[in-house]
Amino acid sequence: MDRIAITGGAPLKGTIPIYGAKNSALKLQAAVLLSSEPLVLENMPDLADTRFMAQLLASLGVEVAWIKEARTLRLHAGDISSTIAPYDQVRKMRASFNVLGPLLARAGHATVSLPGGCAIGARPVDLHLKAFEAMGADIHIEQGYVKAAALRGLKGAEIEFPFVSVGATEHAMLAAVLAQGDTVLKNVAREPEIIDLAECLNAMGARIEGAGTGEIRIRGVTSLKGVKHRVVADRIEAGTYAMAAAAATGDVLLEGARAEHLGALIEVLRNAGVEVMSEANGLRVKRANGRLAPVDFGTEPFPGFPTDLQAQTMALLCLADGQSRIRETIFENRFMHAPELARLGAQIAVQGNEAVVTGVERLIGAPVMATDLRASVSLVIAGLAAEGETIVNRVYHLDRGFEGLEAKLAGCGARIERQRGD
Ligand code: EPZ
Repeated sequence: MDRIAITGGAPLKGTIPIYGAKNSALKLQAAVLLSSEPLVLENMPDLADTRFMAQLLASLGVEVAWIKEARTLRLHAGDISSTIAPYDQVRKMRASFNVLGPLLARAGHATVSLPGGCAIGARPVDLHLKAFEAMGADIHIEQGYVKAAALRGLKGAEIEFPFVSVGATEHAMLAAVLAQGDTVLKNVAREPEIIDLAECLNAMGARIEGAGTGEIRIRGVTSLKGVKHRVVADRIEAGTYAMAAAAATGDVLLEGARAEHLGALIEVLRNAGVEVMSEANGLRVKRANGRLAPVDFGTEPFPGFPTDLQAQTMALLCLADGQSRIRETIFENRFMHAPELARLGAQIAVQGNEAVVTGVERLIGAPVMATDLRASVSLVIAGLAAEGETIVNRVYHLDRGFEGLEAKLAGCGARIERQRGD
């Protein structure tokens, strides 16, 4: 298994290009199933997860072509040859579950494995299934599989979600665009990835209004056409490198990052004493020497502070001059990085959904183990700031969501390398 070795203490200076958002790309990939014409996705992140999704689509009959040098993925679902997503594929990557809605909308039926829980929490899909039922689908769970059918087509419905879910909002949109009649989705997620998906679907001929607000209205259409779409910049990747620049003391331009997608993070960084400036082609993050101030924050759906940046921010605050409080309100088990950060000398007390981080003057490198995608990159950030060598094991988690991480950081002066394992 590959590991990443970091010798901390080098300041970061330079430019880091921000690629397309993984969490948008995966849903855009699923959207190809809605049309018999090609979908071309530009600014595609080349990641274990997006490759995996492409393989799943290929197993359903989609033609897949990566044009690597152009960072483009061309997908074409002329015919759908299978409507089954097996356990092994959905278990390895939860976003695979997102093929259910488009298959149901286009083919009238689908059999997709239930994703099950994962390291950060139970993560049920009840809201997704209730939305499809409201649209007239018959849903049965048999031997761990969701068997869904709407043989005479899905019907528009009014659906009010009991709480905000990114996945359920996107999945309901993916199904409703081809339903008969109007769908109103209330209490929906407002993440930039939702807007990106709506923009792509609308370019394909869908009629979606309100994406980015709490209510989305969709007028069903009978077919969608092929388009070329540019995946929105990854705000989580941008926020992660912002945190790395702050932790390692540096001056980094995050090329392509959009301030309007990172408001809550920028506020936390500024409160900690980090300079963040919008420039024409991205965001500049600058931190001088000297201790950071502690900050209290809690994770919330957009526009609140993203749970996907909580671990990275905790790594930074380990070095603040005082006590920070972090509340995780989205997932029930998303502090697994805390004991690993403690191996570097961090002082973190976790109680329930709150972590109290008492800043220390310095961290000292140590071997650590990645437990999930965002946790693993928080260990890289801590390693960049720590004295001596940090070895991050199990970096396959990292490869799911950060393309070219070592090269991007090394390009700014970090001493970081991948050590290839078996
Ligand atoms: C998406 O997950 C992202 N994944 C996550 O990123 C991200 O952390 C999360 O949104 C929140 O922003 C992808 O886009 C592939 P939710 P999702 O539905 O859609 C509960 C990463 O590191 N819930 O908004 O699964 C759920 O358990 C990943 O890139 C139900 O109870 O998140 C959670 O507590 C990790 N029933 C809360 O809602 C449901 O039917 C919010 O989850 C659906 C969700």
